[in-house]
Amino acid sequence: MYTACIFDLDGVICHTDEFHFLAWKRLCDTLGLRFDRSVNNLLRGVSRRESLEIILRHNNTSLDEKDIHGAMEKKNEWYREYLERMVPSDLEDDVLPLLSDLKGRGMKLAIGSSSRNARLILGRLGIMDVFDAVADGTMISHSKPHPQVFLVAASLLDAEPSRCVVVEDAHAGIQAAQSAGMACIAYRLPNDDLGKGVLHASNFTEIGKLLK
Ligand code: G6P
Ligand code: MG
Repeated sequence: MYTACIFDLDGVICHTDEFHFLAWKRLCDTLGLRFDRSVNNLLRGVSRRESLEIILRHNNTSLDEKDIHGAMEKKNEWYREYLERMVPSDLEDDVLPLLSDLKGRGMKLAIGSSSRNARLILGRLGIMDVFDAVADGTMISHSKPHPQVFLVAASLLDAEPSRCVVVEDAHAGIQAAQSAGMACIAYRLPNDDLGKGVLHASNFTEIGKLLK
């Protein structure tokens, strides 16, 4: 039924979502801004710049353009320090078996991520070659909830959007998949109403069962 599976990266393939949280927290502590996990959840799937804008709005404050760039650079520097410590064994045990099972069934696999660090992360985890295509933050002008990153992934795979399924841990990503006309599996998200037809999974073994 599906010919391609497009995975979000941060918070789905790996736990870099926690590193994003730690790096934003460190930046906010330095700047005297309020930041907690509920604000962090709004940043999932959203570009670095839009994330900072959400944090500033939450604090009813603003920064000039120079300071915005300085803050983004600092956050990314700290985030990349965490990435440097990543190793292939950081992948959860059921990730690679599912990916190879899907490939064995003839499905094409892609990453669809708003991150500009996606290739660095895939390299650290040693899984760059597992994917037939990578659509990332360097290739898009609109981040999720805009569908662009998933449409780029489908086009790289030469797959019809209606025959793609997306795995996502962010509300913004689910909206993006729906706007792209793709099926969607919500990963480790509360079972609330995410819209028509959204499936749920809390590990990769369950994703495999849903795609059988
Ligand atoms: C992903 C994450 C977001 C992050 C965005 C940009 O979508 O879910 O939390 O802000 O990528 O990441 P980057 O690595 O480019 O700062
Ligand atoms: Mg994510």
